[in-house]
Amino acid sequence: MNELNGKHIVLGLTGGIACYKAAELCRALVKEGATVQVVMSAAAEHFITPVTMQALSGRPVYGSQWDAREANNMAHINLGREADAILIAPASADFMARLLHGRADDLLSLMCLARPMDRVPLLLAPAMNREMWAHPATQRNVAQLRSDGCTVLDVGSGDQACGETGDGRMLEAHEILDDLIAYFSPKTLLGQQVLVTAGPTYEAIDPVRGVTNLSSGKMGFAIARAAHEAGAQVTLIAGPVGLPTPRGVARHDVRSARDMLDATLALAASATLFIATAAVADWRPARSAEHKIKKDGSGQAPQLHFIENPDILATVAALPRALSGALFCVGFAAESQDLLANAQAKRARKKVPLLVGNIGPATFGQDDNALLLVDAHGASELSRASKRVLARQLIADIARRLPA
Ligand code: C5P
Repeated sequence: MNELNGKHIVLGLTGGIACYKAAELCRALVKEGATVQVVMSAAAEHFITPVTMQALSGRPVYGSQWDAREANNMAHINLGREADAILIAPASADFMARLLHGRADDLLSLMCLARPMDRVPLLLAPAMNREMWAHPATQRNVAQLRSDGCTVLDVGSGDQACGETGDGRMLEAHEILDDLIAYFSPKTLLGQQVLVTAGPTYEAIDPVRGVTNLSSGKMGFAIARAAHEAGAQVTLIAGPVGLPTPRGVARHDVRSARDMLDATLALAASATLFIATAAVADWRPARSAEHKIKKDGSGQAPQLHFIENPDILATVAALPRALSGALFCVGFAAESQDLLANAQAKRARKKVPLLVGNIGPATFGQDDNALLLVDAHGASELSRASKRVLARQLIADIARRLPA
């Protein structure tokens, strides 16, 4: 989607096995539209060659502060001044320790020290053995670097190149990419606790069959991601979908509407914004058989009786927190016709300040959508775009509606 169009990233590599992931990261940054200038420490060059990084970034790599290619011979000043962000991945334990002390004995540390702190953010993706990561010296350094204004990304957990298992692996390239994109997003939901329901629900008929619908969960997941990028604490309550959890979002998987209601009510107590995108099954079988319902040879289909499911959105919108304005509720409506009239009626029925209409059959499972925002004053459209783009626009719109 070219999410980093127009951004110039200085990608710094320090010594570590995770340098192999920096190659993929570089490629991912370029694919998202960024220009990338790679700067490598001498140690990094033991793990991956400048040739690889030059080929992937399309620019000669810098490694020495004595590089005469710069007319003024001040690569450490010029490179940092051009950047929208400096991203060090991998950031070794040694590099972080040197950064902390303001050391400036190679190009990378010199450039970090010389960066204009007010406009060039420095992000670090640490990578090291689990004992090194857990060591009080490293943890102290991380805390100090954060208070010095660096953004220290999380580390991953799992198998390490040394054969041990634990915390300290560098995040995967796509995770670092997502964190960088989130970093650049306007923080319109800072301080908000956002709760999103997404996907279909599944209502069991018997242990092997059930009633569900074609909701893919993509819109809700995109909204959860956009809310996280906007600075909110986000919890996603997901029906049965096969989508990966957006980075930084807490996820609760549920199956039936009643499970979703329970999870939602528990979390609504502290939420400030509730966005109900889930396509909750309106009805469930009155009883779910304990064992698989068998054909009995009579040719008669079993009689199923349905009862109505609780309306999660209407229940939450009637909570004292919602009525007092402490919890802002947004509903969705997937319609097949008369979108405006149906969305208006639904908004009134569910008593929510904002209802977002879309044409269900045209969007279920698709990567794009078009939205109609209906509030007390009228309706406005978000024209057809990817769910990712729409989610961002919707979050920006909702942020403007929240009490200051
Ligand atoms: O009534 P309808 O299903 O058309 O309303 C859609 C909106 O209400 C969506 O926001 C959906 O998540 C929510 N909803 C709900 N619980 C239900 C049915 C719908 O939260 N049982």
